[in-house]
Amino acid sequence: MAGVRAMVDLGIDHVPNEYLTSICKGITIKAPNNLPIIDLSGIDSDDLKRKSAAEAIHLACQKWGFFQVIGHGISNELMQDIIKMVHHFFNLPAKERMVYYSTDIYKSFRFSTGSIASAKKKFWSDYLCQHCRPAVHEDDVPESIPNYRKITSNYAKAVDELARKLLRIIAQNLGLGWQILEKHLDPPKQTMKMTYYPQCPCPDQAIGIGRHADPGTITVLQQELGVEGLEVNYNGQWIPVKPVEGALVINIADMLQILSNNKYKSAEHQVLVNTKRPRVSIASFYGPTDDKHIAPLEELLGDNPPMFKACLFREYMDSFYKNHLGTRNIETLRILNN
Ligand code: OGA
Ligand code: NI
Repeated sequence: MAGVRAMVDLGIDHVPNEYLTSICKGITIKAPNNLPIIDLSGIDSDDLKRKSAAEAIHLACQKWGFFQVIGHGISNELMQDIIKMVHHFFNLPAKERMVYYSTDIYKSFRFSTGSIASAKKKFWSDYLCQHCRPAVHEDDVPESIPNYRKITSNYAKAVDELARKLLRIIAQNLGLGWQILEKHLDPPKQTMKMTYYPQCPCPDQAIGIGRHADPGTITVLQQELGVEGLEVNYNGQWIPVKPVEGALVINIADMLQILSNNKYKSAEHQVLVNTKRPRVSIASFYGPTDDKHIAPLEELLGDNPPMFKACLFREYMDSFYKNHLGTRNIETLRILNN
């Protein structure tokens, strides 16, 4: 399977059966109020700015599990470079992309398509997935793309700094010491998924990525400007997350819901496709390593019983890939009578 882009290049004029989906889609409504855009600039040196950003993050974590940040420290130039680079890769001849094709989620660099092997329906997207921490094997990354290594390593470093900054604020917002979440994740696992959503002849019949919440701790997502597609679920309705120049989307993922003992909820989201132009996104998943045991943090329990069973992150990932479409995987860990 050479991928959706390769299929579109062959001039396909319908959605093949294995991509046909109607079940995953909700009704898209106009947002009652947009996702907050929170400015992080100056928060390290100015207490007032830090306090107001922290409050906005706390409210967004409670209400949406989703927010956008500006002043985040990743330069516009780097944000543009990485989007261009992903387009470059997906404009290569299909057989050059296939050199990197793999469905093994533990491989440190790979090209893949149509989401996960076990999904009953395929997704209208191809992607590059690269492990940043632990680092990708030097020889695995594509030689043919100019500056690939430089761009992805600078980007991963900047995302790591941003994720740490957010985790410190979120820890304090939860009433924990600022270093607790960062320490808990030490060393973190950081993975970059660079997704390419080709144009689709009948966008109502296919989905870019079906509804899900990310399994890790937090996700930093860059959307290509000028193309919509991402939607977040808010009280059962789908709210479009419009790309904003210079902004990054942050979302709470399942492990933070567990650690916080349900104080913050991971946000369900999905991606729609369109007939007009392809869309690229860069999702950086930041979370625990596979051998990490996760359970609600003792410090947050107090008199409250834990709402989730403990899990090994690797096992959670395995069940995430099995359950993926249309289910909330975190429910498999909920302790029902608590
Ligand atoms: C994901 C995801 C959103 C997007 O890869 O988990 O939700 O906008 N991506 O591509
Ligand atoms: Ni996601």
